[in-house]
Amino acid sequence: MDVMECIHTRRSIRKYQDIPVEFEKVGRIVEAGMIVPTAGNIQDLRFIIIQDKGKRAQIAEASLQQYWMETAPVHIVVCVDIKRGKQFYGMRGERLYSVQHSGAAAMSMQLAAHHFGLGSCWVGAFDEEAIKSICGIPEYARPEAIITVGYPDEIPPRPPKYILETFTYIERFGNRIRTFPLIIAEPSPLVEKAVKDTIHAIDEGTNTIVGKGVEKGKELWKRLMKKE
Ligand SMILES: Cc1cc2nc3c(=O)[nH]c(=O)nc-3n(C[C@H](O)[C@H](O)[C@H](O)COP(=O)(O)O)c2cc1C
Repeated sequence: MDVMECIHTRRSIRKYQDIPVEFEKVGRIVEAGMIVPTAGNIQDLRFIIIQDKGKRAQIAEASLQQYWMETAPVHIVVCVDIKRGKQFYGMRGERLYSVQHSGAAAMSMQLAAHHFGLGSCWVGAFDEEAIKSICGIPEYARPEAIITVGYPDEIPPRPPKYILETFTYIERFGNRIRTFPLIIAEPSPLVEKAVKDTIHAIDEGTNTIVGKGVEKGKELWKRLMKKE
């Protein structure tokens, strides 16, 4: 499976088969979390692999009674060493970069899990103090996400997602390109509709047509049609 397919077909899995996950795969997933970009490469992420059944039950309880989590044979608790971010980048490192680092790690691990035929879910709703106590996390570290991992026992439908042009702007906030699929030359069901529309971009603020996008859209559309 290529990267784009992996990104598009990943689902949050909340029901798992009662079979263990090969530890080698767990290691590779954590590795995918470790190698994400971090500000100044400070690598402040820490990962706790939880397989113990009792601990997983406690974590599910501490995650606002999300008991489905117990069905996952592996929980990966993503922590950040807060003092490291603070040391290098002050408040920004402590409050912003740390959260971005754990988010990047969570996403990377979910994709790696999917790559290995495993399901995962990113869990953010939990009592931090309870998780700290269950996992023995020191004061200077913060648990920011828990990733459940296991062989899926459900195939959830694709949840509704907004289409690309809904929240994507060009050059400045609010400058929406209506026919975005044409601009990026990615065929989608919207392309057919977009052909019928005139290729145009509308500045939401002033309601004027934005020329740059129009020209690029036309050019890319021509190339798309010629399958260059
Ligand atoms: C920051 C964050 C926190 C989340 N917390 C939870 C959670 O506590 N429990 C849960 O079941 N799913 C949680 N999710 C998963 C989302 O519900 C899920 O990604 C969303 O419904 C879209 O589904 P998809 O992942 O299949 O695209 C969380 C996701 C993120 C990014």
